[in-house]
Amino acid sequence: MFTDDLKAAADATQACLEAHLSGWGDLPVVEGMRYALRGGKGLRGYMVMEGARLHGLTQAVEAAAAIEALHAYSLVHDDLPCMDDDDLRRGQPTVHVKWDEATGVLVGDALQALAFELAAGHSSPDPAIRAQLAASLAVAGGAQGMVLGQAQDIAAETAGRPLTLEEITALQRNKTGALIEWAGVAGAILAGADTGALASYSRYLGPAFQIADDILDVEGDAAAMGKAAQKDADAGKATFVSLLGLDQAKARAAELVDSACAALDPYGEDAASLKEAARFVIDRSS
Ligand code: IPE
Ligand code: IPE
Ligand code: MG
Ligand code: MG
Ligand code: MG
Repeated sequence: MFTDDLKAAADATQACLEAHLSGWGDLPVVEGMRYALRGGKGLRGYMVMEGARLHGLTQAVEAAAAIEALHAYSLVHDDLPCMDDDDLRRGQPTVHVKWDEATGVLVGDALQALAFELAAGHSSPDPAIRAQLAASLAVAGGAQGMVLGQAQDIAAETAGRPLTLEEITALQRNKTGALIEWAGVAGAILAGADTGALASYSRYLGPAFQIADDILDVEGDAAAMGKAAQKDADAGKATFVSLLGLDQAKARAAELVDSACAALDPYGEDAASLKEAARFVIDRSS
């Protein structure tokens, strides 16, 4: 079953991260890193490993660990009081609640550095591929990617007018889409293969993922999600749901998933798992 495969990939990625951090001691910043790395669905790491497998590579766990570390950093900082000010993440108190705000900032910083250590230092035996992987991760995570999207998300709260559909699409492409796109193409980069079909797949999947997150924020169960619900409307967040309403947002997400699956057709039956991952993105309850 897809969810069993996802769990197995997440466990392998988690084991890689824990092994890497063993021997780093037990200062709050390191304990906070271990804490923040636990309990996610591991979808981005799964995409890395499945994308690699599609190109005949069975060893991609370090690249999977890199994107999960970068993603975990983005969540720790996203939850800070100066950002979304959230107390609960993955069913546990957020890092700044369990420790303090300075630890939250530093845990995020250190997780980001860890991501590049893994990508640049461990992801492939080929130095040129490691460099390409790390450089593309920097683009995806930085001020042309995730950080830009987070900045646009914050700016939208005080814009004084609702964002247009185009603006929300651009925001989500950066905020969530950039890391998902990297996860989608990383396997092809590792294999030195053409990234075209996987890039197209993950460019459709990214916005579907964020629309599903925004729908869950409105109608999801906080206990199942392991994070607070009903946050976006209170904060005046710009989402597809705020603009289009639930039904149209769901229809849009389903269309995007169909397009994502169609983009994988060149891979034939081999891509069945990534198609299941795409469907999971909009069917999930957490
Ligand atoms: C949540 O991502 C944050 C967004 C980018 C919308 P996930 O839903 O993948 O979070 P985890 O890793 O499973 O906790
Ligand atoms: C966060 O989006 C995306 C990143 C961390 C880059 P959200 O703020 O909607 O994510 P949740 O709902 O807190 O998980
Ligand atoms: Mg946010
Ligand atoms: Mg948030
Ligand atoms: Mg959200």
